[in-house]
Amino acid sequence: MKAIILAIETSCDETAAAVIAQGRILSNVVRQQAIHASYGGVVPELAARDHQKNIIPIVHKALQDAHITQDQLHAIAFTQGPGLLGSLLVGTSFAKALAFGLGIPIIAVNHMKAHILAHFITAPQPPFPFLCLTVSGGHTQLVHVKDYTTMQLIGETLDDAMGEAFDKIANLMGFAYPGGPTIDAYAQQGDPTYFQFPITKIPGLNFSFSGIKTAFRYLIEKNLNQDPLFIQKNKHHLCASIQATLIAMALEKLNKAVEHTGINTVALAGGVAANTGLSKQLKAIAKQKAWNVFIPPKAYCTDNAAMIAITAHYQYIKNDFCDLSITPIPNMPLSHKTL
Ligand code: KG4
Ligand code: ZN
Repeated sequence: MKAIILAIETSCDETAAAVIAQGRILSNVVRQQAIHASYGGVVPELAARDHQKNIIPIVHKALQDAHITQDQLHAIAFTQGPGLLGSLLVGTSFAKALAFGLGIPIIAVNHMKAHILAHFITAPQPPFPFLCLTVSGGHTQLVHVKDYTTMQLIGETLDDAMGEAFDKIANLMGFAYPGGPTIDAYAQQGDPTYFQFPITKIPGLNFSFSGIKTAFRYLIEKNLNQDPLFIQKNKHHLCASIQATLIAMALEKLNKAVEHTGINTVALAGGVAANTGLSKQLKAIAKQKAWNVFIPPKAYCTDNAAMIAITAHYQYIKNDFCDLSITPIPNMPLSHKTL
């Protein structure tokens, strides 16, 4: 299999491109949009416009870094969904136009499957079957991964995603978007038992993160009434305590999934997998319970095009190409055909 594939990712607020050859990543360029920082979340129209502006230079750099010219490409892959419609349209249209011009096929990639297959960019790689807890800004999913092509959703959030909870809570403390990494950084110097938050109990393998955000809001509003500097004085303990609660809620479900399926190879994926506390806590539980744990390098946890490229690589092997009439699917389910 001698394929050289250009992969494009524009589902949310990262404009990214990567080149893969024979399953090996040659380049991986990611540009995170800074324009959303003061809005507390991604502004869809601004995101689409920014992708439009940057897609050509980002693709150009990915080809340049890989020392590959356009005429050496065998296929172009792009994120079809899930994601923001305007953002997805930029990557989809660009991929279609370039592939049309070059006379090569296109590969439509499911972003959530790509987060999981990010595990196969570098070693060590999890053996099949494994359980993956995918935690990002838009999704929280528990997935039974049977092989590269067969993935079954066994649990998901009923309201906010875990990353969304991090970002909304960070916003309540006045941190810029995305606030997850800021909470992570402050949490490292705080006491995780300093503040107590009620853990939302949901039966089965589904998650709920919206109640905890409300509990956090009540706590800070109550305390700010008495001390306007409450957040400033307590930011380390607040971050450590809320992060520990969110992690406990996520890992409780992962533990349940292991008990339910009998599979003890577990993996993390998605932007929140970059959280220091989450990986530390998971490794500690894994040691206790003799689980086999896999966490991708941070650069492959948050949105990137290398994960789209590796997924496209496996789709290319299966001749899983699509028609040039294809359009984005903003709410694309994990079970949607493509891989
Ligand atoms: O996977 P991703 O890059 O984009 C989506 O597909 O949503 O995930 C972004 C999310 C954001 O909510 C961001 O705050 C969160 O991942 N995130 C983190 C950390 N790094 C990124 N959350 C907690 N701790 C981190 N270190
Ligand atoms: Zn993502």
